[in-house]
Amino acid sequence: MNKKLVKVVKRGFKEHYKTRPLIIFSPGRINLIGEHTDYNDGFAFPAAINKGIALAISKSDSNTSKVYAFNKEEHYEFNAENIKPLENGGWRNYVLGVVAELQMFGKHVGNFNSVFAGNIPVGAGMSSSAALENSFVFGLNELFDLGLSKHEMILVSQKAEHNFAGVKCGIMDQYASMFGVKNSALLLDCRTIESQPYQIDFKEYKLMLVNSNVKHKLSESAYNDRREVCERVSGLLQIDALREASKEDLDRIKADITDEDYRKILYVINENNRVQQFSEAIKKDNIEALGDLLYQSHEGLSKNYKVSCDELDFLVDRAKENLHVLGSRMMGGGFGGCTINLIKKDEFKKFKKDVSKKFRAAFEKDCSVYSVKLSRGTHIVDQHTILSNKRLIKPNK
Ligand code: GLA
Repeated sequence: MNKKLVKVVKRGFKEHYKTRPLIIFSPGRINLIGEHTDYNDGFAFPAAINKGIALAISKSDSNTSKVYAFNKEEHYEFNAENIKPLENGGWRNYVLGVVAELQMFGKHVGNFNSVFAGNIPVGAGMSSSAALENSFVFGLNELFDLGLSKHEMILVSQKAEHNFAGVKCGIMDQYASMFGVKNSALLLDCRTIESQPYQIDFKEYKLMLVNSNVKHKLSESAYNDRREVCERVSGLLQIDALREASKEDLDRIKADITDEDYRKILYVINENNRVQQFSEAIKKDNIEALGDLLYQSHEGLSKNYKVSCDELDFLVDRAKENLHVLGSRMMGGGFGGCTINLIKKDEFKKFKKDVSKKFRAAFEKDCSVYSVKLSRGTHIVDQHTILSNKRLIKPNK
């Protein structure tokens, strides 16, 4: 949780609505490995992080609902009847989507006032949209006593993304954001939608995210295209999802598909296996193997699945040149956003300086570097704890 964000939304809420709100914190996520495997019913290894969205929300007597997006300084007011996605609606579509999908689920959502603020860089592949969806579904579920389980809530969030943002995403982002466990990554089975938390000791290494700060156009349609290829080939293989496929199965239908599609499916099969190998390497404390798997994952994403871009490939190549980086790969849907790197702790600053300089020289724009903590999933912020912590820090005030 981020106390600064909580304060921001509390203050914002007080200024606009004058009642006492419920406060929710909903995190973004990273993914260690297992990219584009979730919608193939495969495995992924995400974790919630200490960056996210704080939402202040309360019931309203008026006949409309109001949302204030603090970072953008934008207000939006809507009537909950007959909700449709807006053209170029941006953040509004996630909120509308959650309300509409709750209604589709047979739930009655009353009117509400809300303020949200966040610190997840948008388009960085750290799931700011899942954090936003989850904050609203969680807040509304609590406020209106809708009785949804966390599993039901993430399905609502996912539907909002499909039907209101137009991205046919898998379940990884919403799951990690909702179910995150402090100091742990989650080995997620996207078929059963269950996970196992892993407390990973990276020893003298740590995770470093490098944001290319680019988001290439058409990334949404390219994402949906990838999903379509996977589903089409699953159909040819007569299986429910690529999780069930092996390379031998794929080779049997090689003549029936294009070379491009063959390589995409091969990527998915290999990546799914890499998630298993990654979890085995953690159990055996084999940190070097983790690094290798990250590089292999990137190679597949870039050359076979074709969801990388020049900026991301450049960042991974610079990581490869540095002996203190064990592994690096693009993270998330692709076509921009971050790389995730496993780097020696005491070399973090040096690599940050080096890669930033080279990135600027190559692309005439800046990349950004973050370190993240693995954190708890979406939750209600206990305001009392925040107050008493404050008193503990400043006992005389
Ligand atoms: C996006 C989607 C996820 C997942 C990743 C790629 O983040 O929202 O469901 O498919 O891309 O692993």
